[in-house]
Amino acid sequence: MNHPAPVATADAISREEELDQPLTYGVEAFLSRDYAEREKTHLWPFVWQQAGRVEDIPHIGDFITHDVGDDSIIIVRTASDELKAYHNVCPHRGRRLIDVPPRAHHARGHRRAITCGFHGWTFGLDGEARHILDKQDWKGCLDDPARTRLSDVRVDSWGGWIFINMDADCAPLRDFLEPAAGILDPFELEKMRYKWRQWVVFDCNWKTALEAFMEAYHVTGTHTQMLRNGDYYSYSAAYGLHGVSGFDQRDATVRTKEGSSVTRTGKSGVDPRLSTYDLQNEIYTTVNNAGTTETLVNAARRLVDELPEGTAPEDVIAHWLASAKADDAARGILWPGITPEQTGKAGLAWHVFPNVAVLQGVTFALCYRTRPHGDDPNRCIFEAYAIERFPDGEEPKPDWVYAEPTEEHWGLVLAQDFSNMAAVQKGMKSRGFRGTLPNPHQEQKVTNFHRNLAQYIGMGGPRPI
Ligand code: FES
Ligand SMILES: [Fe+2]
Repeated sequence: MNHPAPVATADAISREEELDQPLTYGVEAFLSRDYAEREKTHLWPFVWQQAGRVEDIPHIGDFITHDVGDDSIIIVRTASDELKAYHNVCPHRGRRLIDVPPRAHHARGHRRAITCGFHGWTFGLDGEARHILDKQDWKGCLDDPARTRLSDVRVDSWGGWIFINMDADCAPLRDFLEPAAGILDPFELEKMRYKWRQWVVFDCNWKTALEAFMEAYHVTGTHTQMLRNGDYYSYSAAYGLHGVSGFDQRDATVRTKEGSSVTRTGKSGVDPRLSTYDLQNEIYTTVNNAGTTETLVNAARRLVDELPEGTAPEDVIAHWLASAKADDAARGILWPGITPEQTGKAGLAWHVFPNVAVLQGVTFALCYRTRPHGDDPNRCIFEAYAIERFPDGEEPKPDWVYAEPTEEHWGLVLAQDFSNMAAVQKGMKSRGFRGTLPNPHQEQKVTNFHRNLAQYIGMGGPRPI
């Protein structure tokens, strides 16, 4: 990490192995303006940030901006196999080159060249200044192209996502993403395309919003209706900067290979042919047509006709997935060659440091990204989107839609999650709040997040209770 050395915090946890003990972390990460300021100087400029999907800019000259804190980055396609990224600022007198429209959270478009709206300096897609009005007035000083070119930002892609890093000396993207990238590679996320995408502004810190999607411990309290069709005991684990959670069994003897993932049977003690369908159907209908696919729901519906009563849960899952795979193949969607062991190891949902959550499945993923809203630690931009494999030429290509955080726009489950956001942010300010008590087994992803944040920010790390 090439960022300013963080301030050491004496008794903060520094190792992943220590995360399974009872820990607490402070609320300054969510509430303090100083902390938010340190994120601007110590975190965002030094991490690889997910800035969009490769499909956002398919043609040469297509661009998007990625905005965080005071920084804005332009990402542009310069060749069929090349992306470039620049700081969104004119080298002349500092005007933003590309304006983000009011009430939008990014800009998107197509340019053959980038012309500044102030004095008309013009830049090629390669970042070089092409036109400077009255350049001779500078008496040769601008003849060095390094003085006038756009400021470069590192850009790379993985899993179909575009990532940028403002730190010229940063480690390669792949190194930053490991071991998450290696564990998720078998899902071939790069072959999925947007199904829908929506965004909203919440009255809470970006971490408050993200953490609502980092553990399944809240299902019992928040999504009470889901207990009818599934068991929601979960595990949570750190993988370096990143973390994973998955379903678990309090009784280890009934664990199945894929039982940690979203493709599992439903409630234990119920005929798995029925429970698998009930669970899949519930997810699809209450998580805004995401978290699974129509193919998987339909194949699960047939289980009761295709398998005899008493079929073991592992065999039900194997049959279900094989028939869904055949259904998809018949409509032109090939599944990745992923093994049950790989699915099981990948669990249910990942936190990709610092601000992304991914709930992955064999042909789909439900993803979240949160960012600070300006300088205010009490507000954030929240984006969620579903990606899925589609037959060639049938990708829906939806644009971002601003959607009020209601059941009507997001489905019951996400609306329930949203109902906690501002309430948690407010509650943490209470003088009666004695400090966080994260679950050492089920919420390690959250403590790992604060452990890693502290490495950058220099404060706020988890410590033993
Ligand atoms: S600030 Fe861009 S041309 Fe002057
Ligand atoms: Fe939830």
